[in-house]
Amino acid sequence: MRDLVAVILAAGQGTRMYSGLPKVLHSVAGQPMIDHVLMAVRELEPARIYVVTGFMADKVKEHCGRRAICVEQKRRLGTAHAVRQVVPYLRDFRGNVLVTVGDAPLIRSETLRELVKRRKAHQVAATVLTTELDNPHGYGRVVRNRDGTVRKIVEEKDTNIYEADIREINTGIYVFDCQRLLEALRRVGNKNAQREYYLTDTIEILGRLNYEVEAMVAKDPTEIIGVNSRADLARAEAYLRQRIAAAVMEQGVTVIDPATTYIDRQVRIGRDSVIQPFTILEGRCEIGEGARIGPHAHLIDSKVGSGSHLRFCCVDKAEIGANVQIGPYANIRPGCRVRDGVRIGTFVEVTRSEIGEQSDVLHLSYIGDATVGSRTSIGTGSVTVNFDGRRKWPTRIGDDVFLGSKTSLVAPVEVPSGSRWRHNAVLGGNGAECDAQPEATAKPVKSARRVRAKRS
Ligand code: UD1
Ligand code: CA
Repeated sequence: MRDLVAVILAAGQGTRMYSGLPKVLHSVAGQPMIDHVLMAVRELEPARIYVVTGFMADKVKEHCGRRAICVEQKRRLGTAHAVRQVVPYLRDFRGNVLVTVGDAPLIRSETLRELVKRRKAHQVAATVLTTELDNPHGYGRVVRNRDGTVRKIVEEKDTNIYEADIREINTGIYVFDCQRLLEALRRVGNKNAQREYYLTDTIEILGRLNYEVEAMVAKDPTEIIGVNSRADLARAEAYLRQRIAAAVMEQGVTVIDPATTYIDRQVRIGRDSVIQPFTILEGRCEIGEGARIGPHAHLIDSKVGSGSHLRFCCVDKAEIGANVQIGPYANIRPGCRVRDGVRIGTFVEVTRSEIGEQSDVLHLSYIGDATVGSRTSIGTGSVTVNFDGRRKWPTRIGDDVFLGSKTSLVAPVEVPSGSRWRHNAVLGGNGAECDAQPEATAKPVKSARRVRAKRS
C-alpha cells in the first residue's frame, strides 16, 4: 500500500516490567514484541514505517535495523507528543497513517489491513480499532455519537461514572487521514489527569472540526492485548502459542498437547509430523514430514529431516538428516551435522561434528570436533579426547569403522575406513604432547580379527 505510512509507538520504558530492557524488546513466542508488530505492519507494505523510540532509543534502533526509520522522542510527554515527532516527515504525505503500539504483539496484519480499507472506503478522518471487554480497566473508553460514529475517547483517569461503565475500549490502534491527523495534533493540549498530550484527544478534536471518526470493533479481543507487566507478557505468550499451535495443526501436524508444547513463530513443520508433549521448538527450526519430536525435546535453530524421531534431547543449531533417531538423553550441541539414518542414543554428547549416514553412537559417548564416516559404529563409552588444555584438535573416523567399547580417540587422530578396534583401545596421541603431535594414523590392533569373529 503506497498510500500508507505506519507509526509504531515504542518510546515507553515499561515501568511495570521492572526491567533493564526496553519493554518492546521483551520476547513473546521467541521474538521481541516489536518484531511481531513489525511483521504485522510490514505485510501491508507501507511506504514507510516509523518507530518512535525513547527509553534506550539506541538499543531499539539497532534492533529495528533497516526495517524501520527510528525517530527519538527525547521527553515522553504522551502519545500525541510521540506522534508529533514524526510530523516533520508527514507534512507532504497524502494518504493513510496507521498508528499502533509496540507493546501489542498479538495484532494480526489482516486486522490492520481491514482497518485501512474501512477508513478509505468510508472516507472518514480516522478509524479507531476498538473492542469490548468484560473488564475494561486501564483502557481508554470509546464514547459514541447517536449515529454510531465516535465522539471521543476518554482515558480511564479522566472518566466520569457513566463513561467508566463503557465496555468498548480503545485499542490504541488507529488509521488517520494524514492531513486531518496533522490538523488535530496541532490542537492537542495536556489539561488532563496525567498532564500528558493524549493522541486520543485528536478524536474529539476531529469531531469539533466537523470530521467523522468511525470505530471498527475487533472480533478477537485477544489480538489487542497490551503488555504492561510480566503477567501480561505471560498472558500474551499463552495466546500467541495457542495461535501458533492452531496454525501448525491446520497445516497437517499433530500436536498431542498444545498446552505443554512451545513452538516459536518462525518454526516450520512438515505434514504428518507429530509433536509430543513437553517439547520446545525455539527460533528458526525446520522439521520435515512424518517426524516425531518429543516427548521432552528441546530444539533451537535446528533442521530435522523427514521421518526422524527425537526424544528427551537437546538439539542446538544442528542439522539432523532424515530417519535419524536421537535420545533418550542426548545433547547435540552447535555445529553438528547428523546425516540420514544415524542413531544417537543414551547419554551421548556431540559437538561441532559430522556423523555420516547410518552410523551409530548409541551409548555414553562424547564426540567433539570429529568427522565420522558412514556406517561406522562407535562403541559404548567411546570418547574423543579433543582438548589438551590449550586447544581443541580434530578427529577423523572413516567409513565402516568399528570401534569397541571405551575407545579413546586422542586427537588429532585419523582412523582409517574399514578398520576395526577392540575395547579399551587408545588411538592417536601415543602419549606425546598433543600439540606437538602431527596427525597420527592409528594402526589396528592384532586381535581385531577375533573381535570380528565373535560378533559374526
Ligand atoms: C493508550 C491509550 C488508551 C488505550 C491504550 C491501549 C492514550 C492517551 N491512551 O493508553 O486509550 O486504551 O493505549 O493499550 O493514547 N508512548 C510513547 N511516548 C509517550 C507515551 C507513550 O511512545 O510519550 C508509547 C508507549 O511506549 C506505548 C504506547 O505509546 O507503546 C501507549 O502508551 P501507554 O502509556 O502505554 O498508554 P496507555 O496508558 O496504555
Ligand atoms: Ca499501554
